[in-house]
Amino acid sequence: MPRTSTKVKGKDAAAEIEELRAEIRRHEELYYVYDNPEISDAEYDALMARLQQLEGEYPLLATRDSPTQRVGGRPTEKFEQYVHRRPMLSLDNSYNIEDLRAFDERCRKLADGRAFEYVAELKIDGLSISLHYEDGLLTRGVTRGDGRVGEDVTQNVRTIRSVPLKLKQSHAARELEVRGEAYLSRREFERINAEREEAEEPRFANPRNAAAGTIRQHDPQIVASRRLDLFAYDALAGDRKAFDSHWHALDWLAAAGFKVSERALCPTIGEVVNFCNEMESRRDALEYEIDGVVVKVNSTALQEEFGATTKSPRWAIAYKYPARQGTTRVQEIIVQVGRTGALTPVAILEPVQLAGTTVSRSTLHNEDEIKRLGLRIGDWVLIEKSGEIIPKILKVVESRRTGAEKRYRFPSKCPVCGGVVSRPEGEVVARCEAADCPAQLKGRLLHFASRRAMRIEGLGDALADQLVAGGLVRDVADLYELTRESVAELERKAEKSASNLIEQIEASRRRDLPHLVYGLGLRHVGERTAAILARAFRSLERLGAATVGELDAVPEIGLTVAESVHDWFADSGNRELCERLRAAGVRTELEAGALGEADEKFAGKLFVLTGRLESMTREEAGALIEARGGRVTSSVSKKTDYVVAGEEAGSKLDKARSLGVKVLGEEEFRAMLGL
Ligand code: IVH
Repeated sequence: MPRTSTKVKGKDAAAEIEELRAEIRRHEELYYVYDNPEISDAEYDALMARLQQLEGEYPLLATRDSPTQRVGGRPTEKFEQYVHRRPMLSLDNSYNIEDLRAFDERCRKLADGRAFEYVAELKIDGLSISLHYEDGLLTRGVTRGDGRVGEDVTQNVRTIRSVPLKLKQSHAARELEVRGEAYLSRREFERINAEREEAEEPRFANPRNAAAGTIRQHDPQIVASRRLDLFAYDALAGDRKAFDSHWHALDWLAAAGFKVSERALCPTIGEVVNFCNEMESRRDALEYEIDGVVVKVNSTALQEEFGATTKSPRWAIAYKYPARQGTTRVQEIIVQVGRTGALTPVAILEPVQLAGTTVSRSTLHNEDEIKRLGLRIGDWVLIEKSGEIIPKILKVVESRRTGAEKRYRFPSKCPVCGGVVSRPEGEVVARCEAADCPAQLKGRLLHFASRRAMRIEGLGDALADQLVAGGLVRDVADLYELTRESVAELERKAEKSASNLIEQIEASRRRDLPHLVYGLGLRHVGERTAAILARAFRSLERLGAATVGELDAVPEIGLTVAESVHDWFADSGNRELCERLRAAGVRTELEAGALGEADEKFAGKLFVLTGRLESMTREEAGALIEARGGRVTSSVSKKTDYVVAGEEAGSKLDKARSLGVKVLGEEEFRAMLGL
């Protein structure tokens, strides 16, 4: 076992049991009460499993107040308390297929020869909520709390758009209770954290913590601004299940207006295993975090018959995916220098396995983040990897400090070129100010060559290093002076790949203005802003000559961008660079008709966006459509001209198909936008 349970050899069972209980209680409090865990779920489960094993071996040492005898933590005092009609139990966990098969064995034994099915559905990583309906109207929302007593968070629950205020389906029972998992999508989580960073508030560690913190907010306005979501997974009438099977309950919930997760009706445990595997392979592509699959016996009659222990039902089990959290040590902190000169500290970690990959580094964002964490070199840290998000350090495990850890001092000079580092008042980012810093130049080259900019695919990390180190390239315009021979002379550069690179550089001369503007890497000018600027000014020259007022007058361009663009062009070196690009034959004028043509495809057309797009957010896609004269609505009807369908597109896509509305994939959509 990692962490603090210092195991003394020969210590007796009673002492170990007491120690485990204290340890588990502390972690429960950190997790349930403060939303601030110090160990991963798997580590917590291992402590609990050891305690259960010891209590099983020594029944005389079992007590009523042991953590194994209750459901969870306890509620905080902030909201009115509410006693659940039927306790909100937790689930037993399983971590491998053998565990699932053992669960199947137990169920079949209990069913005693009667046939039955399982329902497999996603285990959403959020927090469970109970919703009360009277005559079809939402009357109360309660958190799980400790499983017996929860907190009344009705005001907050009402802000969740996927919670119907009025049910769309009726039910024989006047009073209904719907249970489900409230959560934040990954995108919403990132958005909230970016906002918090801007406001200099601490980032949330993960979407689950952010959701838990949000549901306990006292200001419903703030709750509403953080778009919580909910998947429903149970329906009760009084203290009984409201339907004769779980599958029917889910069908009814979907018809009543709830979101219901992907699910499968499985006649055998083999099919459950298939569902678990399939969802594991799709896990990273989902818009929200899941930590596994929940497997339930479908028949309500059998569920009631199997019953429950004090902690969990015997008719259900959670199949947990490999841990994405773990503890490891920080060996070193290095500092990377990006294309804008920004210094980004990175923690070098003792390699640790997380969700099937080895993690050995984690970004620390900036100097303030190191301070916020209180991180020292040599510290043990709790880390987490989720989705495509790079692993991050959640916190320092202070209880494991030995005193040998070293305080970290942020560099006052650029670690690459030795240049002066400055950090203006009120900014979190420290930058290297040297104009000729090789790390910045390399970053600028890679950005200029990237797919969304000039698309010079042969120009990768290693080659950029060589071009800079060999002195062949001092700015992006130098790329157009490279020859086959000069590139082939670089170490280990074969003739053929040198030719490829030169061909791609050649082709990039015909890339259009929006990509060039983006590729120049002006501060605050992302892909979308670059397209807006290119459309508004139609040439690099006119863009460079624009005053702050003229820039600021462009719809969607704010003062920060206007000033940044103006400052960039005010620099004589940058103006000269633009001139050299133009002289090298790079297209610096907007192609005649390029965007005009695209406009016609959009003007007056009605779009619906659904699913997750890889290259932009839905908001950005909407703005691009509207900038071209199109309109975006949220529901699909016969009037819809196009449905843009990203990953995980759901019912809107089905509806578009049934109505025969034209569906665009992301690539088609980008092509239509001229991107
Ligand atoms: S069923 C007795 N279904 O997982 C049944 N729970 O570890 C208990 N959860 O407290 C709940 N997705 O917060 C169920 N599809 C799902 C779920 C789910 C997430 C959470 C829920 C519960 C915890 C149990």
